[in-house]
Amino acid sequence: MGKIDVQELYRESYVENNFERADMFEAIRSRFNINCALYPGSFVHVTPSFFIQEVVYIDNDQRARKFFEQKSSVAGLISKKKTYNEDAEFSFIYSDYSEPLELEEGSFDLLISQYAGFVSRECKKYLKIGGILLANNSHGDAGMAFIDDDYEFIAAVYVKNGRFHITEKDLDSYFIPKNQIQVTRDHLEQLKKGIGYTKTANSYIFRKIS
Ligand SMILES: C[S@@+](CC[C@H](N)C(=O)[O-])C[C@H]1O[C@@H](n2cnc3c(N)ncnc32)[C@H](O)[C@@H]1O
Repeated sequence: MGKIDVQELYRESYVENNFERADMFEAIRSRFNINCALYPGSFVHVTPSFFIQEVVYIDNDQRARKFFEQKSSVAGLISKKKTYNEDAEFSFIYSDYSEPLELEEGSFDLLISQYAGFVSRECKKYLKIGGILLANNSHGDAGMAFIDDDYEFIAAVYVKNGRFHITEKDLDSYFIPKNQIQVTRDHLEQLKKGIGYTKTANSYIFRKIS
């Protein structure tokens, strides 16, 4: 695999198809006290760094490794869009996120789980007590967090007129299965795509409580 064009890979992966989700991270950053985030299964989605000064990205994809190897190009991409005065601090770990990682436990304010498996479970130990988990349910991770006693479901993220918003309203109406089944960890793990719920959100926000 040759050298990767950082700008081009970010553009074709996220900008061209309107998939940056920038204002979701902006909303999270302004609602919660977030200084540092962990993003397992990030691929090259460096958008959180536009709003959060310190982010650690993890992925086991070769293209992601090649992308982050060009640290100054990635720093240039981030610095064009960042919304804070300090220099961005970011790093990349080329690994399976469920393997032991050289990260301090209980040290991150935000754990990001987007389309990348059961991040909430495998990387929970790195999140502070009181820290925030942002998870979607594409691979069933939000459903997994919902039945995890260490997390409390505190808000939902929805899209209206192309903008992301956070709501704390009617939280009881989410995570009600369409079919009357017992939702278990084993079941979600086997499915790997989440079960159907009567009401869904784009993403879900949890607080780590224990
Ligand atoms: C569909 S992409 C999503 C990328 C990014 N989270 C986003 O929302 O744009 C899933 C990424 O998760 C990574 N991934 C999945 N399981 C992983 C694991 N166990 N360890 C590290 N990376 C993983 C894949 O390599 C891939 O880059």
